[in-house]
Amino acid sequence: MGAKLLGFCLVSALLAYYLYTPIPEDIEEPWKAMLVATSFRVMGQLAEVADKLGLVHYMDTLMLLTDAEYVAPMSDENITVRDTEFSNVSVRLYLPKKPSERLRRAVVYFHGGGWCLGHAGMRSYDQVTRWTSDRLNAVVVSVNYRLAPQHRFPAQFEDVYTVTKFFLQSSVLSQYGVDPDRVCVSGDSAGGNLAAAVVQQLLEDPEVKTKIKVQALIYPALQTLDLNLPSYQDNDNKPILPRSLMIRFWGEYFTSDPSLQEAMATNSHVPLESSHLLQFVNWSKLLPEEMKRGHVYRAPVPGSPGLARRYPGFLDVRAAPLLAPDARLLRLPHTYVLTCQHDVLRDDGLMYVKRLRALGVPVTHHHAQDAFHGAMMFISWPMELAVGHRLLQQYIEWLDQNL
Ligand SMILES: *[C@@H]1O[C@H](CO)[C@@H](O)[C@H](O)[C@H]1NC(C)=O
Ligand SMILES: *[C@@H]1O[C@H](CO)[C@@H](O)[C@H](O)[C@H]1NC(C)=O
Ligand SMILES: *[C@@H]1O[C@H](CO)[C@@H](O)[C@H](O)[C@H]1NC(C)=O
Repeated sequence: MGAKLLGFCLVSALLAYYLYTPIPEDIEEPWKAMLVATSFRVMGQLAEVADKLGLVHYMDTLMLLTDAEYVAPMSDENITVRDTEFSNVSVRLYLPKKPSERLRRAVVYFHGGGWCLGHAGMRSYDQVTRWTSDRLNAVVVSVNYRLAPQHRFPAQFEDVYTVTKFFLQSSVLSQYGVDPDRVCVSGDSAGGNLAAAVVQQLLEDPEVKTKIKVQALIYPALQTLDLNLPSYQDNDNKPILPRSLMIRFWGEYFTSDPSLQEAMATNSHVPLESSHLLQFVNWSKLLPEEMKRGHVYRAPVPGSPGLARRYPGFLDVRAAPLLAPDARLLRLPHTYVLTCQHDVLRDDGLMYVKRLRALGVPVTHHHAQDAFHGAMMFISWPMELAVGHRLLQQYIEWLDQNL
């Protein structure tokens, strides 16, 4: 009996130890946040084991979360929702039912998931885009671009670019009753990366006559060159995006070759011949003092030229919008950036804000001191956090006032 009790206590203690995930002190609802963080950590570990055993690809295991969260297109009293294709790329459309005297606003949205995961039909994304459509009485186009590892860069970029360009044609905008002067491109995380890249590229496309009015970038990934920024170091193991997972996402975006991820892990993937690009991600110049505290600038270690020759994508401005020269950035539209303090991607967003502002681009920057990466998506049971609702409300209010 004593042995059984001892065994039970031991197993319980081990389980509690395993499930316990440290949460930054200033996070509200710490128990709920820990539950979220632990679920993601356990999924990551299962994915790792299944991948190591050669059973399924790491991303296929994580994709189970996307599949579990999938909801079919469902119209409600205010919005007609349907899945369709724009130029052969799958999209989910949200069309307001309420009559409108004037032309409507529109938001083109790209979901997150590290270019490998996610779907416009995930419950959380469906809510974000549905609420955007409802509150703004706007048409929302949420894009299901192709994902890695089946499809590598630039497939993801090409899909979202194709859809945006298709939608911006005046015949299409008028078919949906959209005001060509009031279109926004928006996305979160990897979707924020795609949004920033698309908006830059549109500026240089002579075939596109419609101008984007605003872009909204929610904790975007904006550069691949320096993966040891203070935010990467400070948030190495924060929920839900540890540095190792972000590096895996970056690697998978370009190739299945593990040598790229290995070089990224030691921050030694940028060859000497590309070191002129490092000025665009030099945190020593581009970060505010309070984010630099406790860090000494060290440029990334020069890496093998062969790697960059085989996978040039990671030095491509369509994958790393921060690499754009000033002459390109200064023509960008009014920009909204959300950054979270406990996020490896925090400094990407901060550096973009700094560069755009220095060039006179109007920027609204919200910094969520008490949030971790992905926080805006935790808006429905069982993964519902007050901070998610707060960030979403801020974002939608900003769109309502500025689009
Ligand atoms: C539809 O719009 C009305 C009025 O704005 C709102 O009260 C209601 O909650 C909306 N319905 C849904 C399902 O969002
Ligand atoms: C869509 O795909 C079909 C079949 O692959 C092709 O014939 C057609 O030209 C494509 N349309 C566009 C707009 O790319
Ligand atoms: C980064 O900026 C610092 C300070 O302005 C400078 O000393 C350093 O040479 C820069 N490094 C690179 C690689 O741009």
